Amino acid sequence: MSSYTVRKTPGDLSWFTHDRFGMFIHWGLYAMPGRHEWVKTNECIPEEKYQKYFQYFNPDLFDAKEWARQAKAAGMKYAVLTTKHHEGFCLFDSQYTDYKSTNTPIGRDLVREYVDAFRAEGLHIGFYYSLIDWHHPEFPIDHLHPRRNDPDAYEKSKDRDMHKYAQYMRNQVTELLSNYGKIDILWFDFSYDKDPHFPDWMKGKGKEEWEAQELIDTARKLQPHIIIDNRTQIEQDLWTPEQYQPTEWIRHEETGELVPWEACQTFSGSWGYYRDEMTWKSPEMLIQMLINTVSLGGNLLMNVGPTSRGYFDSRAQAALQTYGDWMRYNSRSIYGCTMAEPEFLNICPNGCKLTQSQDGKRLYVHLFEYPFQTLILKNMAEKVDYVQFLHDGSELLTEERTRTDSKGETEKNLLITLPVVKPNVIVPVIEIFLK
Ligand code: GLC
Repeated sequence: MSSYTVRKTPGDLSWFTHDRFGMFIHWGLYAMPGRHEWVKTNECIPEEKYQKYFQYFNPDLFDAKEWARQAKAAGMKYAVLTTKHHEGFCLFDSQYTDYKSTNTPIGRDLVREYVDAFRAEGLHIGFYYSLIDWHHPEFPIDHLHPRRNDPDAYEKSKDRDMHKYAQYMRNQVTELLSNYGKIDILWFDFSYDKDPHFPDWMKGKGKEEWEAQELIDTARKLQPHIIIDNRTQIEQDLWTPEQYQPTEWIRHEETGELVPWEACQTFSGSWGYYRDEMTWKSPEMLIQMLINTVSLGGNLLMNVGPTSRGYFDSRAQAALQTYGDWMRYNSRSIYGCTMAEPEFLNICPNGCKLTQSQDGKRLYVHLFEYPFQTLILKNMAEKVDYVQFLHDGSELLTEERTRTDSKGETEKNLLITLPVVKPNVIVPVIEIFLK
């Protein structure tokens, strides 16, 4: 058994820390400009102009079953869809707003289709729900808001009532957690401090403004098992490092305990569909990010930003295919795996990454750099029962190599013989059955 003790949290993480790999989906009106999901505020687009996207939103090629098929084929076990992003547009048929997909040309509850299709593929279902709302008339203008530079921003904002907006969020979360069956994850986003460069009346927003405790209570009453992230500023289940690769298992800020964490990453930098973005990650980087994450006890939530026609563009499909091709043969080093036990952390030369099955029986060496012919694992000679490549289950021959180190101590090393030619796998994995 894994010896790592992880902080206990209120939600049910049992499936989550087994499954390790999920799909984030950022989809909304911003797919139409195709210039980042923050386009409304990045370009300070006025409401009347942004309304064009609402008027013409018509993802005629949307097929939730096809999305679910691709997620599953990529080896992803769960998904988190933006039911509402910062722009305020809802992909579901909420009775508390007109600003929703059912009132656009597509005329459908897109959340419902997502839930049905992903559930049918056996994937766990997550909802992202933006705390920020740049459309809602009661959401006070702040330094992130598209109207922040209007000369009359103060006049427009001063009578806005945050309590009404907080109630609106509770109403919508109630809808989302009542009308779509069992929901496994609720992903709130996000809290922020005031920006000193903006006038004092533009306050930051956090747990008080969101009335976060009530919001969380509302959610837990409806779905007690649900996994909730920490971005309301009230600690729940999930620490969510974003767009960077942690180098250690994340620890609790006060107690220092290990915590459940999920890195969220993009294929290309933006979350929403960004037509002209050129920073698409290489296949090697994509696979390495997944391995790195699991090697530190975390999950990876990898994002897709579908087009406004409703499909994953060819670049996103290629990235998913990269995962699928690798996971098809190597997922055993990911599912049900975690950080290797401390006794194994220093057995490998540079260029290797380890994971270990949570029952402790199997150890996986991921070869980021493919060595010439041999790999020596320090002091492993007596701990190993059988060794093979994971992708094809072919035996790797081993022998004991005893050596005296610089301090005069005897190392009982294990020498593994590798083929000279790297197998045709982006990152080859050695599977070790431990004694
Ligand atoms: C950020 C962004 C947002 C994105 C999210 C995903 O907080 O505001 O656009 O949805 O990260 O983690």
